[in-house]
Amino acid sequence: MTCTFRCGNACDHPVPNPTDNEYFGDVVTAALSRRSVIKGGAAGALLLSAGAALAPTPAAASSMAGTPKLPTAHGHSTPSHGRGHHGGVDSLDFTPVAPNKLDQLSVPKGYHQAVVAAWGDPVTPDAPRFDFERQTAHAQSKQFGYNNDYLMVLPLGRGPRGSERALMVINHEYTDEILMFRGWKDGAAAPIEQLRIAMAAHGMSVVEIERVGRTGRWQLVRSGRRPYNRRFTATTPFLVTGPAAGHALLKTKADPSGRRVLGTLNNCSGGVTPWGTTLHGEENINQYFEASAPVDPAYVDAFKRYGLPTAANSGKFWSRVDERFDLAKHPNEANRFGWVVEIDPHDPDAVPRKRTMLGRFKHEGATVTIAKDGRAVVYLGDDEKFDYLYKFVSTERQRKGNSAAAHRHNMDLLDHGTLYVAKFTGDGSEDGQYDGTGEWIKLCTDKESFVPGMSVAEVLINTRLAADKMGPTKMDRPEDVERNPVTGSVYMACTNNDSRTAAQIDEANPRATNKHGHIVEFDEEHQDAAARTFKWRLFLVCGDPEDPSTYFGGYDKSKVSPISCPDNVAFDGSGNLWISTDGNALGSNDGLFATATRGPERGHVKQFLTVPIGAETCGPLVSEDQRTVFVAVQHPGELDGGTPETPKSHWPFGDQPRPAVACVWKD
Ligand code: FEO
Ligand code: CA
Ligand code: CA
Repeated sequence: MTCTFRCGNACDHPVPNPTDNEYFGDVVTAALSRRSVIKGGAAGALLLSAGAALAPTPAAASSMAGTPKLPTAHGHSTPSHGRGHHGGVDSLDFTPVAPNKLDQLSVPKGYHQAVVAAWGDPVTPDAPRFDFERQTAHAQSKQFGYNNDYLMVLPLGRGPRGSERALMVINHEYTDEILMFRGWKDGAAAPIEQLRIAMAAHGMSVVEIERVGRTGRWQLVRSGRRPYNRRFTATTPFLVTGPAAGHALLKTKADPSGRRVLGTLNNCSGGVTPWGTTLHGEENINQYFEASAPVDPAYVDAFKRYGLPTAANSGKFWSRVDERFDLAKHPNEANRFGWVVEIDPHDPDAVPRKRTMLGRFKHEGATVTIAKDGRAVVYLGDDEKFDYLYKFVSTERQRKGNSAAAHRHNMDLLDHGTLYVAKFTGDGSEDGQYDGTGEWIKLCTDKESFVPGMSVAEVLINTRLAADKMGPTKMDRPEDVERNPVTGSVYMACTNNDSRTAAQIDEANPRATNKHGHIVEFDEEHQDAAARTFKWRLFLVCGDPEDPSTYFGGYDKSKVSPISCPDNVAFDGSGNLWISTDGNALGSNDGLFATATRGPERGHVKQFLTVPIGAETCGPLVSEDQRTVFVAVQHPGELDGGTPETPKSHWPFGDQPRPAVACVWKD
C-alpha cells in the first residue's frame, strides 16, 4: 500500500535511468576486487574482509585537527560540546529496543514518549476540531496534514506563560486515501471533496510548540495568537526563483509568467539553513499527474526519465479538481514540481520559493553546510534506483547576523552558484584500504552550462537528462545526505536496490539484490564542503548482522542491532549518527538507530526506538540541548487490507491510525 500511495509503485515500472553510466555497486566491487586478500570464496566474505580495513584512515583522523573533541570511548560527549548537558540522549547509553511487530512506539527503559502533533490537530488558531467522520478540505487546510516526514524545531524563546517555546516545521509527504476515507475506491469514483481534502493534507505545517515544565517533553500550543502557525498545501502560491524562473518550459495557461506555481507536492525530507529558513524536497511528483491522451512528443523523453505519464494514463484524478494535472493539456505543469522549496517559518507573510538553481529531480531532501570560505553548500539526493547524488555551491558567502540586510542577502544565496553531480571511483592504489575517490562534475552555474546542447535553464529543469550526459555514478536510491557537524564527514543513506537480479550474483557482486541498503561516508578534500573531490568508504552495509555481507563500521557484529533500509540521517551535538529506516526488510517494524562515527564505538549501531506497525520512521531530530528526540511516525497501519473498517494500527489514540510527530525524553 505504501508503494501505491507514496511513489505510485515506482519499483514496478522500468528503471527510468537507461544510461550506461557506472553503477555504484560496480564501483565498490572494483575497489574490493583489486585487493589480493580477496580470491573467490563465499560471496559474503568479500565485504567482511573489506570491512576489517574500513576503519577511519590516519589521513582522515588528522584532518579533524581543529574540530571539537570527539566522543570518548563510551560515547559520552565531552563537556566542550553537546551544550554541556551531561547524560543527554547523545550519551547513547540506552539499552537497545528489540526488533518487534508491536502497535506502539517502543522506547528504551528509562525513556518516555508522547505525541506532539497528529494528523488533524489544529494549526491555525481558527482551525476546527478534527472529525474523522466529517472531514472537509476547508478544515484540513487549517489542520495538521497527513504523513509527516521531515521535521525541524527552531527555538522561539519564552511564551506568554513563561514556557519555553519553539517552532516546529513539518513536511506532509503524501496521502493514503484508503486509510483517510471510509469506502475509498479510487480517485475517479471519489467525491470531489475528498480529492480536495487530500490536496489540502499535502505540503507543510508550521506550529508553535512548548516545553512541558522542565522536562524533555514538548506539546502543541493550543491557545493564544500563535502568529507563526501556518499551512502550505497543494494550492498555496509559490514564487519560482533562480535561473529557470520564467523559462518557456515553466509557463502555463494559468501562469504565463512561468514564475508563480500553485502548491508543493510530496515533500519528503529537508534541511535547515544557517539563516533560519527551511528547505523541503519535492520527491515523487510524477504520481500526481495523468494524461487524458498521448502527450506532446516533444516532452516524451524527459517525461519518461521522470516517470511521468506519456500516454493515456490515470493517476490520482486530481484533474477532476484542476485541469492542470492533465499533462495532455498542460505538459509544462509537471515541470513546476520536483524542486527544492524554501520557506521562512519566522515570517508568516513570506512567500515560499521554489529554488530552480538546485535542479529538478526526485528530491529527497536538501541539507546545508557552510564551506571554509563561507559559501553555502547543499547536498541533494535523487531518490530513485540508479539515480545520482548532487551538490550545490553558492557564489556568494553567507552573511552572518540577524540584520534585515543579512537576511535579504542570504535569501538570495540559493539562486546563484554551481550545481554538481557526483562520480565515485574505486581506489586503484594499493594502500591497503577498501575505499575510493570521488569527483564533483559541474553541470552548470547560474550563467553558464557545461552540458553539451543544453542551456542553463534546460539543465535545471531536466537535470536528470543533463546529468546522464556527464558520466556520474548510479546509486542505490540516495536519500538523506548530511554532514557531521563535529567531524566534517558526510553520510549518505542508500535505502536499497533490489533490481540487480540473482543471476548476476558472483563473488565480486556480493549484494546483487541490495534489499537492506547501506550508508556511504565521504570526506571532502581538506574537509572543505566546496571541494571538487572527495574520498569515500562504506560506513554501514545493512542487514541482519549474522548475514556475512553486512558491515558495521568495523564494530563487533555480535553486539549491534539489526538494521534495514536506512532513509533519514541526523546528528546530535556530539556527532553521533542517528538513522531512521523505511521498509525494514528483516520483518520487524521500522525504527530509529544511533551510533558513534568515530572512536572505539564507531559502528556500534543500537536501536533507540521502533514505530508502530505499518509505519516508517522519519524526520529524526535530536534537540540542541540533547534532551529530546523528535521523530515523525509516518503512515501507521499502512498495510495491505488496512481500512477504516479494518484498521491494522490504532496508534496513537486507540481508534483510526493517525500519522503523528512524537517526542522521546529521558527520566
Ligand atoms: Fe520519501 Fe525517498 O523517501
Ligand atoms: Ca525519505
Ligand atoms: Ca524512503
